[in-house]
Amino acid sequence: MEEPQDSHAQDVTKTAGEENCTDAKQEFYIKAQKYWSEVPPTVNGMLGGLGYINAVDIQASTSFLRELKIKDMHKKYALDCGAGIGRVTKNLLMPLFEKVDLVEQDPAFAEKARDYCVTDMGSTLGYPKRLGEIYNVGLQEFIPTPQKYDVVWSQWVLGHLTDEDLLKFFKRVKVGLADGGLFVMKENVSSSNSTVLDETDSSVTRPLTEYEKFLGEAGYRIIKITKQKNFPKGLFPVCMIACRPMAPKINQG
Ligand SMILES: C[S@@+](CC[C@H](N)C(=O)[O-])C[C@H]1O[C@@H](n2cnc3c(N)ncnc32)[C@H](O)[C@@H]1O
Repeated sequence: MEEPQDSHAQDVTKTAGEENCTDAKQEFYIKAQKYWSEVPPTVNGMLGGLGYINAVDIQASTSFLRELKIKDMHKKYALDCGAGIGRVTKNLLMPLFEKVDLVEQDPAFAEKARDYCVTDMGSTLGYPKRLGEIYNVGLQEFIPTPQKYDVVWSQWVLGHLTDEDLLKFFKRVKVGLADGGLFVMKENVSSSNSTVLDETDSSVTRPLTEYEKFLGEAGYRIIKITKQKNFPKGLFPVCMIACRPMAPKINQG
């Protein structure tokens, strides 16, 4: 999560040549799987050792959703993408939505989420039935049920997708949104105009302009962007971006 001082432009997610491309892509995903398999299934683990930012993160996300007037929306189903143990599901989405599904590639995190999302210090939380399906699969393969979700939330995971898979994922999410549904992403962005590779967890940090470009290409209209405040100094800036599918063009010919 820390922003390197001498960050340099590098993008392993674009590789020329079909065969090399497939190998590099496989390696990019396998390295990330290995990295996360060694991380403890705790809030601290989900936040790269900065567990103390959980409250301020959730507070800002709650305000962001409030400003988007989600209280006036249907709140039947939400989806948490790259959910880990369900930190966002439990603290942000379950209090607001009737049912929350999760997508998470790591099997131990997905299993932990079943308990973490419905209990607190041994007691069952108020609405255990709000926990929906847990899909233990990578976002690069996940196909949502069409028109199911009022909000799809994706946090600190999109840097684990290649550019090609990111665009395809954005397009599939659009299909998964219910009428009037929102896609929200909360991600680190680079301060420079370049994409920064993190070899340790096998992820990239893209500039905001890259995300805007891919969202546009996938057919979304961005309706709100807010920068996270009150995070410790030295981290990458974090942006919350809310968007809706663009209305289909009416053929006037
Ligand atoms: C920094 S943690 C964030 C977890 C959660 N979103 C949160 O904010 O607490 C990143 C999560 O993304 C998951 N992840 C990494 N690559 C993924 C992929 N290709 N598809 C789905 N999840 C992935 C990791 O296993 C990990 O749980």
